Amino acid sequence: MNLDRRDFLVLSGTGVAGYLAGQVLPASPAWAAEAGEKVYPLVDIGPVSGLPVGAAIEFRYPDEDSPAVMIHLGEPAKDGIGPNNAVVAYSTLCTHKGCPVKFHPERKMLICPCHWSTFDAAKSGNIVIGQASQPLPQIKLRLDGDLVQAYGVDGLIYGRHTNIL
Ligand code: FES
Repeated sequence: MNLDRRDFLVLSGTGVAGYLAGQVLPASPAWAAEAGEKVYPLVDIGPVSGLPVGAAIEFRYPDEDSPAVMIHLGEPAKDGIGPNNAVVAYSTLCTHKGCPVKFHPERKMLICPCHWSTFDAAKSGNIVIGQASQPLPQIKLRLDGDLVQAYGVDGLIYGRHTNIL
């Protein structure tokens, strides 16, 4: 989508949302990159088939300095994908002071070993108890056939001013 100034003004008058209704937008829109905006990368994580309930697959997103985990909860989760909408992913940097949280499948929680902040993996990483004051950032996932892909982050990753550096 290439918009010049005139197009933008016309769209502003008629409503950008109305224009975009029905359009399929890519995960990392090329027009945003062309405009100099930083965009989230689209990263392949792995196949969803055969992923056992309770599995915790470590990966990095949106860059190598940002550890994350994809987990199969076995029950529906907020913004989950795959079988039963049960697959979700989170940054593993605790929002309190950045310690690495671990997934505890028996409780379906992500727990920080430093000061025991506990985050609900089925409910957007919301805090259940502990020192943290912010939920864990949730990695946005989508499916391309059987392949799980990360395409964004909800929430600010610990220690960053912006998620995309
Ligand atoms: S660093 Fe996680 S609770 Fe303090």
